[in-house]
Amino acid sequence: MLFSHFILAAALLLASDVLATPETVVWFAQPGTAFTDSLMIGNGRLGASVWGGTSSDNIALNEDTLWSGGPYNPIHPGAHAALLTARAQINAQNWTDAEATINANVLGNPSSQTNFQTAGALVITTNHNTVSNYRRQLDTATGLVTTSYVFGGVTYTREYLSSAPDNVIAVHINSTASNAVSFTASFSTPQTVTSSSATASTVIVTANNTAEGVLPSAITFEKRMQVILSDGSSAAAGTNEITVSNATSATILISISTSFKNYADGSSQSPSARNTAVFSKIASTAWTSLRSRHIAAYTVLFNRFSIDLGNDAALSALPTDQRVARNMATFDPGLVSLFVNLGRSLLIGSSQPGAVQPANLQGIWQDGLTASWQSKYTININIEMNYWPAEVTGLSDCVEPLARMMEDVSVTGQSTAQTLWATTNTAKSSGLPPWVVHHNTDQWRATWPIDDARYGMWPTGGAWELQTLWEHFLFNPSNTTFAKRIYPLFAGSSQFFLETLVPYAGNSSWLVTNPSMSPEKEHPGNAADCSGPTLDNTLIRDVFQQTVTLASLLGVDSAFAAQITATRAKLPPFLIGSGGQLQEWLIDWDSTPSAFSHISPLYAVFPGSQIDPLSNATLAKAAAQLLVFRGPGDFGWPIAWRIPVYARLMDANNALNQLKLLLGDLGVYRGLLGKNSVFQIDANLGGAGGIIEMFLQSHNGEIRLLPAVPTVLPAGTIKGIRARGGYTVDLTWSNNQLASAVVTATIAGAKTMNVRLKNGPTLVALSLGQGQSRTFTSTDFA
Ligand SMILES: *[C@@H]1O[C@H](CO)[C@@H](O)[C@H](O)[C@H]1NC(C)=O
Ligand SMILES: *[C@@H]1O[C@H](CO)[C@@H](O)[C@H](O)[C@H]1NC(C)=O
Ligand SMILES: *[C@@H]1O[C@H](CO)[C@@H](O)[C@H](O)[C@H]1NC(C)=O
Ligand SMILES: *[C@@H]1O[C@H](CO)[C@@H](O)[C@H](O)[C@H]1NC(C)=O
Ligand SMILES: *[C@@H]1O[C@H](CO)[C@@H](O)[C@H](O)[C@H]1NC(C)=O
Ligand SMILES: *[C@@H]1O[C@H](CO)[C@@H](O)[C@H](O)[C@H]1NC(C)=O
Ligand SMILES: *[C@@H]1O[C@H](CO)[C@@H](O)[C@H](O)[C@H]1NC(C)=O
Repeated sequence: MLFSHFILAAALLLASDVLATPETVVWFAQPGTAFTDSLMIGNGRLGASVWGGTSSDNIALNEDTLWSGGPYNPIHPGAHAALLTARAQINAQNWTDAEATINANVLGNPSSQTNFQTAGALVITTNHNTVSNYRRQLDTATGLVTTSYVFGGVTYTREYLSSAPDNVIAVHINSTASNAVSFTASFSTPQTVTSSSATASTVIVTANNTAEGVLPSAITFEKRMQVILSDGSSAAAGTNEITVSNATSATILISISTSFKNYADGSSQSPSARNTAVFSKIASTAWTSLRSRHIAAYTVLFNRFSIDLGNDAALSALPTDQRVARNMATFDPGLVSLFVNLGRSLLIGSSQPGAVQPANLQGIWQDGLTASWQSKYTININIEMNYWPAEVTGLSDCVEPLARMMEDVSVTGQSTAQTLWATTNTAKSSGLPPWVVHHNTDQWRATWPIDDARYGMWPTGGAWELQTLWEHFLFNPSNTTFAKRIYPLFAGSSQFFLETLVPYAGNSSWLVTNPSMSPEKEHPGNAADCSGPTLDNTLIRDVFQQTVTLASLLGVDSAFAAQITATRAKLPPFLIGSGGQLQEWLIDWDSTPSAFSHISPLYAVFPGSQIDPLSNATLAKAAAQLLVFRGPGDFGWPIAWRIPVYARLMDANNALNQLKLLLGDLGVYRGLLGKNSVFQIDANLGGAGGIIEMFLQSHNGEIRLLPAVPTVLPAGTIKGIRARGGYTVDLTWSNNQLASAVVTATIAGAKTMNVRLKNGPTLVALSLGQGQSRTFTSTDFA
């Protein structure tokens, strides 16, 4: 932290000199011109994104429970009969008829979900129109955004943070001259404002969330700003603004609270009482204490991991936007480290244990100025990606909001299972009744199929989302409390599939999902619907196996487990098509190139592990062929997903090609934020976790060192990579060779794992007690 402050000061003095910047800092030499190049901070619950204008500074504000609409369950009575019709149409290969049936008589009522909303913006106006030596940065190692510039011979500095311990967003403004800080601060609010009042030190605005289609507004919220001055004076201006004059420094504190209690109750809490509690707790806390408490809490999480892939001093000295612009032509290894650090900062910012909601498509960040766009939980890949860095980079605790969401949908998904899929809703002895969630959910935990048959009619969303919890267990295998907590969810999901799998029309020995789809991918029948897509078969195989493993660990439900094992044997195997490709469907429909963003069957390679090149070489070759057919990704998250898939296939060159695409104009906006038609955070989070697979993998009972490191990254050090089984690895390599891997058992009861270098043959069995380490070098594998 001190280092980056030194650099900041030096940059102001010597702007024309070349200076190295540590690979923890995203920075620009100009203010943001769009939300997509703002700088983001968050405490899990409160998000802010900083544009950093000097004339007028917009700080978008977000609170994680401010969603549109209110509690609902989009049940469609009578839909089960239509589902049976669609199933028969699929069996008769009348694909478009089946989609028409689903669109007309199955989709939810309403048939689209609610959305995360912005809480507006804080607008700081100074009218410093012509400035010099401008710099705006996010230090991912501290979670602090800083802007600074010179105006009228005076250097002005603003620092922005979102504090978890104090539960506020704070902006501190000072300058190098006494009494030079003058500005106005106001709130902008896109929703209907219900009250607004200002004093010389406080602005309070209340508003209602926005209705969503037929769903009325159910949430009220309050934004409260408090301004604390060192000296000078302040006054209220109208009902929404404070004018500050001639201070030496000023601190703006912001609390945002809503009336949300839980998915069934959006309105019973008092936002005003919540904000009052926040402010009374920090009453007279000085800025320096707030700042140091924030840094102390943030670094507990951030400092568990570090990455250094080497860098090019000339490239590292450039503002981040210039590095992104050059990266496609000139590979910039330091930018990879910066991207991983940013990803970790964004996960800490959007999903800390104290957060109410898990990270959605934009994390917790939305443009504070323009109308909100669709941002819910898409669970046919995107929310899962958001948690890929959690375990491997030491942020295991950040999974907690997602675990709570899964506990919710395993309850709300019961009525959908019963009404749409005609499950019997009988609880197993230790498990939940059957439950299901389709391709999306939201703050109200809706689980019914929505949007359109070719997106929504997919009953395997819960099975995929459960994988995040299963991974958490694999990394923390001695936590029996956690195993007990998640077993009912797995048992309820398995029970759903036991009751709803049906014989496949093309081979009655196989049991399949129907109707379903391979997410969002149209097949030659001009439709996406089908039965038994490869992704479903693979996910259900996993959930069945995981349920049996948990039941055995907990010593429960042996008859149920035996039934699951018998049914699992009837799932279709992986099939290889006439193009040599891993089939996406049970019909060999995709034997020629067909570019697409989703690569659903490759779930079996990553994040799943049923296809492993070292033990399933033929299937791995077919998986690689399917990747060729699907082409490289052409925007953020699809590119990000391909990195760990290539890494698991031990294809370092193609992993590198995707990495270059990700950190260039196709994959990210100018400040490394994930690119889609809007900012989409899954590229950042999924990318940060996926990149680690190039350096260390741990699955199928093995820890694999340096499995897919390209020659352009000949040396590096990554500390604090976590491995399944309960280990932490500090990894160093140079001249493309392993220098050392220090493997430490972080828990008591760590699982025995074999250790392998690259794809070499030698395995070393590792079994360590808590705190014990073993150091591996190349010679251990000679
Ligand atoms: C499938 O379509 C054919 C041709 O329109 C029709 O004769 C048949 O009845 C359909 N089958 C089902 C199960 O809808
Ligand atoms: C202004 O605030 C920043 C951030 O807290 C601090 O580092 C700097 O020393 C302050 N400058 C002055 C002149 O007080
Ligand atoms: C805002 O919500 C409150 C509480 O539900 C309601 O009483 C009020 O009428 C709403 N105001 C507007 C302008 O919609
Ligand atoms: C701020 O300082 C300036 C220059 O000393 C002075 O003219 C002005 O009246 C002050 N404003 C307030 C509101 O005190
Ligand atoms: C084990 O899991 C429980 C339940 O999720 C959690 O509360 C606890 O903190 C975990 N213990 C450890 C040591 O991680
Ligand atoms: C049908 O499934 C059985 C059992 O997996 C398998 O042995 C057989 O080859 C399959 N038949 C066809 C035509 O795929
Ligand atoms: C992959 O190989 C493992 C180890 O030999 C084996 O147990 C597993 O069944 C194989 N998977 C498939 C899908 O063939």
